[in-house]
Amino acid sequence: MLAFFIGCAGKEEKEKEGFTYQKKVTTEQKTTPEAEKIPASKKIDLENKGVGPISAVTLGAEVDQKKALQGAEVYKKMCTACHRIDKKFIGPAPKGILERRTPEWVMNMILNPEQMVKEDPLAKELLMEFNGSPMANQNLSKEDARAVLEYFRTL
Ligand code: HEC
Repeated sequence: MLAFFIGCAGKEEKEKEGFTYQKKVTTEQKTTPEAEKIPASKKIDLENKGVGPISAVTLGAEVDQKKALQGAEVYKKMCTACHRIDKKFIGPAPKGILERRTPEWVMNMILNPEQMVKEDPLAKELLMEFNGSPMANQNLSKEDARAVLEYFRTL
């Protein structure tokens, strides 16, 4: 009988907490714009194409495996000093990046990071999130950058 009462009270307490928590979130949202709370690396922006040499990229319906393999090689050589596939390292994790950014933005970030971190709002925020440590221009050819993009589709 005692156990029943304790269990019951516990449940009620949890429900109350849930309710107050929700209320808090709603009031917070009114004072702080939602955008400020999400770190740049987690932000989703599927409109922004960034600034740089790439204005349009067409992705095939299926991943081009040969290109992805070439991209994996380039990534291993040129990017792993600062990037880990699925965790934050010196730079952000590229896993799932195409769910957060346009392919054009990703390629411009690879090919033109200096201008991106100066002029692109999202890249500027990223630079701040990563304490001012900049994305390095690895002087990739457009073709290699495109291959890395294809590789990113497989992550
Ligand atoms: C010297 C370290 C360094 C190297 C090498 C490097 N990066 Fe980065 N990268 C960063 C940092 C730091 C950031 C985040 C801060 C910024 O954008 O300035 C970043 C950001 C990025 C972003 C944006 C990620 C996001 O979530 O929006 C992409 C894409 C990227 N790098 C791809 C690459 C690729 C591809 C290579 C290899 C060709 C590479 N990086 C090599 C340090 C590096």
